[in-house]
Amino acid sequence: MDNIVDLKGVVMRFGDFVAVDGIDIGIQRKEIYGILGPNGAGKTTAINMILGLLEQTSGKITINGLDTRKELGKIKMMIGFMTQETVVDQDLTAEENLEITGRLYHIDEEELRRDIDEALRESGLEKFRNVKAGTFSGGMQRRLNLVRSMMHNPKILILDEPTTGLDVQNRVSMWKKIKELNDSGLTVILTTQYLEEADALCDRISIIDHGKIIAHGTPAELKRMVGNGNVLEISAKVDQIERIRKMLKSKFRLESENASDKVTCVIEKNATLMLSKISAELDKEKIPVNSVGLHLPTLDDVFIKLTGSTLRDTLGDNTKTIRMR
Ligand SMILES: Nc1ncnc2c1ncn2[C@@H]1O[C@H](COP(=O)(O)OP(=O)(O)OP(=O)(O)O)[C@@H](O)[C@H]1O
Ligand SMILES: [Mg+2]
Repeated sequence: MDNIVDLKGVVMRFGDFVAVDGIDIGIQRKEIYGILGPNGAGKTTAINMILGLLEQTSGKITINGLDTRKELGKIKMMIGFMTQETVVDQDLTAEENLEITGRLYHIDEEELRRDIDEALRESGLEKFRNVKAGTFSGGMQRRLNLVRSMMHNPKILILDEPTTGLDVQNRVSMWKKIKELNDSGLTVILTTQYLEEADALCDRISIIDHGKIIAHGTPAELKRMVGNGNVLEISAKVDQIERIRKMLKSKFRLESENASDKVTCVIEKNATLMLSKISAELDKEKIPVNSVGLHLPTLDDVFIKLTGSTLRDTLGDNTKTIRMR
């Protein structure tokens, strides 16, 4: 089957700096596809090229078979886009925000009234129809932004970090909304810095770091890269990390991975017995640790294996939780 969105060897340079370094991504119809990576990985740049807001330095992008370099007008009508920053007009009411978007797409007046009612209902903002968006909480603004990006009834929805900065409750409700839209037939492409989000939502994922795709597959396939079995995780201060790795290697013949504040290794058999033996050895050697535990492989383990850091290590400021009213 043809990919609805297809990137082949796509490169974006800003002067000497290579922000996107030859990526291949094939997105199938009706899937939720995640582009996962830390700050500055190149996620927004990749999205902007798919949208035709930036022209790639080299490589080819097609949307529904149409080349973004040649048929941008048609492509724009197929795609709904929610930007990383919320861009609803703060001085306009919820209704007015939807109106100006509808006019941009030349939706006729009668249809627009119906679409606005539906969008307000969908976003749970009916009661706030005549309230200025500037007074809305972060979660409400994001919901308004989402329905606004859908006013022209697109086939593909692109969401650039749809839940960054949202609290857990709003994040979960955004996930539910995205799932519903996907169930109704939309192809969804989203970027995220949250491993749990990629895991919970996406059918397939590309992990991007420094402009390169370092792994791709379904969440289950990616987790299998870590190994079969349980992951033993020892968290400790940075100056103990090497000591722990050496102990695991010399006493238990275990190969480990590490981030700045933790060591992980895969235990294939008898994990709980190994856990107690390793805990006893840490005690015996008087190695101070913060915690020792077992879990099934997560995407965080995948990221550590691939990059030697946790995704959290690389996160910037913009993950602060916005307090909801
Ligand atoms: N117009 C530009 N000119 C120069 N450099 C740029 C430009 N746009 C982005 N970059 C650089 O390209 C790299 C990738 O940026 P991009 O915004 O795509 O990252 P991102 O993965 O979206 O990060 P974040 O999670 O912080 O949004 C960064 O180092 C950024 O500083
Ligand atoms: Mg970005």
